Amino acid sequence: MNYRHAFHAGNFADCMKHALLVWLLRAMQRKPAGVMVLDTHAGIGRYDLETGPAQRTGEWRDGIARLLAAPSGALAEYLGLVRSLGLYPGSPALVLEMLRPQDRLVCCELHPEDHATLKRGFGRHATVHKRDAWEALGGLLPPAERRALVLIDPPYETEDEFERLMEGLKLGVSRFRSGVFAAWYPIKHRAPVRAFHQALRDSGIRDVVTAELWLRPPLDAARLNGCGLAVINPPFGFEAAAGEMLAALSAVLGELDGGCAVERICDE
Ligand SMILES: C[S@@+](CC[C@H](N)C(=O)[O-])C[C@H]1O[C@@H](n2cnc3c(N)ncnc32)[C@H](O)[C@@H]1O
Repeated sequence: MNYRHAFHAGNFADCMKHALLVWLLRAMQRKPAGVMVLDTHAGIGRYDLETGPAQRTGEWRDGIARLLAAPSGALAEYLGLVRSLGLYPGSPALVLEMLRPQDRLVCCELHPEDHATLKRGFGRHATVHKRDAWEALGGLLPPAERRALVLIDPPYETEDEFERLMEGLKLGVSRFRSGVFAAWYPIKHRAPVRAFHQALRDSGIRDVVTAELWLRPPLDAARLNGCGLAVINPPFGFEAAAGEMLAALSAVLGELDGGCAVERICDE
């Protein structure tokens, strides 16, 4: 496990994922019944961008720094949370801040050091497992609440990560059909993304929408040119809201030939 999220915190991909995550959880909280948020690849929870790994790469300067300097109404809740939380909030920190008394957060993080940091910072308010995400999708679902938002945010360190994601989604949905699953994926070039969309169509999973942002056309397999979030069972209004948020992200973060799209991949 070589990937350390601290080098990439606050970059454009984090901003896209976190803005959509905030919307998804708020949408689920329209109903009073409690929600379990399962963060299968949680990272360390919060990140100091001014020192350490993030300062070394500087990726956040072309991500959250630009969004905070040119705030858009479509991203207001996410940016408000980032401003109020001080250190850049990873997914656990954003979710924890949004939880109501009836909701709960369950995190998995397999890297020993990152797990220890996450447990130290969040263990009092969330359940923090040192547990393999792909196994946890079977073991921790369905939740007692019968309502869950499952964020799946793998590091894509290995060639087969899209295949593992597909297997994870199939397992998760087989354990809990009505869960809202949000899976982040990188867009380097088009072929793997097309294959992933096709695998979703072939899987028999229903009600899937993808939201994608690309900073530049995805033609160079060696660069992270964009990213996507595949959402299974999206709450009402997701397609319209995602379209507005992606357009706002693209306007500030994208290059001239960048773009975004929201696409229904599988019917309800
Ligand atoms: C992209 S980062 C997560 C960022 C986090 N979700 C956020 O938005 O702030 C992916 C994390 O998954 C962890 N990881 C990698 N493989 C894992 C696995 N099989 N099970 C659980 N965690 C894993 C890595 O150590 C890394 O911290």
